[in-house]
Amino acid sequence: MSDQAEQVARALPPRLLERIGAAVMRPFREVAARLKASLWLIVAVGVIMASLVLIAGLSKTFALIGVVSFVASVVLLPRPDAEHALPGALARPAATARTASAMHVMADALPDPVILLNPAGHVLFCNAPARGLFASLREGSHISSVIRTPEFLDAVSGAPDRGRAVTVTYAERVPVGRRMAATVAPLTRGTERGGNILVLLRDLTEGERINQMRADFIANASHELRTPLASLRGFIETLQGTAKDDSGARERFLPIMAEQASRMTRLIDALLSLSRVEMNAHVPPSDLVDLNDVLNHAKDTLDPLVRETAFRFDVGRFPRPAIVRGDRDELVQVLQNLVQNALKYGDKGGQVRIEAKHIPSLGRQGGRYAIAVIDNGPGIAPEHLPRLTERFYRVDVASSREKGGTGLGLAIVKHILNRHKGELAIASMPGKGSTFTIMLNEARASQPDKGAATG
Ligand SMILES: Nc1ncnc2c1ncn2[C@@H]1O[C@H](COP(=O)(O)OP(=O)(O)OP(=O)(O)O)[C@@H](O)[C@H]1O
Ligand SMILES: [Mg+2]
Repeated sequence: MSDQAEQVARALPPRLLERIGAAVMRPFREVAARLKASLWLIVAVGVIMASLVLIAGLSKTFALIGVVSFVASVVLLPRPDAEHALPGALARPAATARTASAMHVMADALPDPVILLNPAGHVLFCNAPARGLFASLREGSHISSVIRTPEFLDAVSGAPDRGRAVTVTYAERVPVGRRMAATVAPLTRGTERGGNILVLLRDLTEGERINQMRADFIANASHELRTPLASLRGFIETLQGTAKDDSGARERFLPIMAEQASRMTRLIDALLSLSRVEMNAHVPPSDLVDLNDVLNHAKDTLDPLVRETAFRFDVGRFPRPAIVRGDRDELVQVLQNLVQNALKYGDKGGQVRIEAKHIPSLGRQGGRYAIAVIDNGPGIAPEHLPRLTERFYRVDVASSREKGGTGLGLAIVKHILNRHKGELAIASMPGKGSTFTIMLNEARASQPDKGAATG
């Protein structure tokens, strides 16, 4: 090698030299591989030609031309199975294609959004959840067309050189407010650089909302318990101190103390009831229950309360047995909670009506039973309706507390109905009363008619 050539060689990085060497050697390796693969065929052709020379007197020149042409055809003609015969570099493009398609299959099987980018940040592939997340996501477009957060884009542009995965969280306002975590992972091995980039997305909104709800729930429950407890402690201290020998004060305080204690009992009962229903949320009830039986039982337990309040209470029935898969006690509790609300928030001397209606099956939807609890009380303003079934949500906290309300009654109703795969519909207008309708699916094993029942 001349001095100049040596200088040039020294100036080139070792990896580049390796690559040039590999490129120069590639045709020789291919020829060697083809010859090796067809060696026995070449030997066989050689033997046949030699036999023809010896036995049939074929000209040696012709025989040599025949063998040389055969070897040339083995070396030069394109072969469909070349990629299988050739090891190493020649097989690489096919192997890369296979790896990419295996990765597409894997990404498609993942439940979370996955986007594969080239080193410049253009989308090479995205799975169905990713397309569901971003309607405008297209293969070939730049990732910044769907995620514009600077931290995320920095993570993507830095990925090819960083060589390790990073996770960034960001908030989105459009089309819906949500918090996302994006893991940006360069697909490179060891110290390699410049490979494609895998982006894995996770929606954090739901998890964070549940955590917030849990924290709110504990804060609300402790607050609800703390108020009657503080009041009880105040009365006890007064009776132990200044009002020690005051029998009049004792007479006045004791009923209030008893009321505070029973308020705490009600709250704890409601909390236990809610947690019991929540615990069984994923176990659908299996018993067959006749809703007329539930209506009868609810009426029996509510009648004494209705008598105390001077309300008119009419309970309708289904004309035939209305069989659902359900838990009788839980369904009775649903009706009790709804009727208690109607009595509690309705105007004194008003009316509470329960209507029962069968909704026949329509198309693929099976038949349903609807039970509506209707009152002619003050009604509820529309802005409160979507939040009524939240735990501890009350339209008027002071008035609910005054009436012994814990704010958990409708949350229990909703959980019981969820477990029964049923629904709760609330319709109300201020000044026009409220209608709470529960809907339950007809059981498949419906019993034959037994005639109409009256109530
Ligand atoms: N029939 C109704 N008419 C008017 N307001 C109602 C009616 N039913 C419920 N509400 C409103 O919805 C709120 C939530 O009801 P929910 O039954 O969950 O709690 P509560 O009645 O306050 O307490 P609890 O039922 O645990 O004793 C009530 O505080 C009340 O403001
Ligand atoms: Mg209630």
